[in-house]
Amino acid sequence: MGIEEILSKYEPKMENILLILHELQNARPGQFLSREDFEGVAKYLNLPLSKVYETATFYGLFSTKPRGRYIIRVCVSTPCYVEGSEEVMKTIEGLLRIKPGETTEDGLFTLEEVSCLGICGVAPAMMINEEAFGNLTSERVAEIINSFRERGEEK
Ligand code: FES
Repeated sequence: MGIEEILSKYEPKMENILLILHELQNARPGQFLSREDFEGVAKYLNLPLSKVYETATFYGLFSTKPRGRYIIRVCVSTPCYVEGSEEVMKTIEGLLRIKPGETTEDGLFTLEEVSCLGICGVAPAMMINEEAFGNLTSERVAEIINSFRERGEEK
């Protein structure tokens, strides 16, 4: 779906900016927002380009770089930290040889640190795209990553 088509689904009001950015990001392979997206939104909502960038970066929900097919979001808020999110992060970094904010060379995985995912009852927790995983241990994390790697390589 092109940018014009997505924009036309929303009234050109500031209150729709997050919905618009979200849909644009998801529509693009690599799940990111390009300069063209920012310019299109600024024009459509009659806002300065800087305001659109500022809004997108403030929420930390959007990326300006292409990301992997699977986006791993590890919660690093206090309840998860206390239960071992640091170990989870180290395990993933070791398995994929990337740091938070980076994408593997094969384009399969992007690693991100996020705050509370709303599933603190099963801390430490993470999400991979829309799937949530809790009560993580290094072994469990390795199994999960391997299963996604297999899925990704099948395609
Ligand atoms: S603190 Fe990690 S999910 Fe809430």
